[in-house]
Amino acid sequence: MMYTEKVITEFTNPQYVGELADADGVGEVGSPTCGDIMRIYLKVEEDRIVDARFQTFGCAAAIASSSMATRMIRDLSLSEAWDLSNADVVDALGGLPAGKVHCSVLARDAVRAAINDYRTRRGLEPWEAGPCE
Ligand code: FES
Ligand code: FES
Repeated sequence: MMYTEKVITEFTNPQYVGELADADGVGEVGSPTCGDIMRIYLKVEEDRIVDARFQTFGCAAAIASSSMATRMIRDLSLSEAWDLSNADVVDALGGLPAGKVHCSVLARDAVRAAINDYRTRRGLEPWEAGPCE
């Protein structure tokens, strides 16, 4: 199995790792495949993500994927961040080995869980994934 340079950089030097104590939304997901756990914290102002952090108890690809995802959703609106696909994360990482694609799905799902936590806290309906996602 080969990791790209970008995966190794994100894994060894994750910029936005840690907890946001005053987060407006927190999403936690676990992978049934491997048992890894990922948590994403969002700070939201006027529907825009002004800060995003992650904590991942998992493999290198999961750490790299969540690191990249927190980088990519910064400054996006919540609906733009919702539309971040795991393929977007994989592309930004320059690819992932086939057996590690589920790690990027976990990152997308953690972002979405955090967005829905934000919505639920405000009494809004959670968004739902499309049927073919
Ligand atoms: Fe499961 Fe990476 S091996 S998240
Ligand atoms: Fe992807 Fe319908 S949710 S095409």
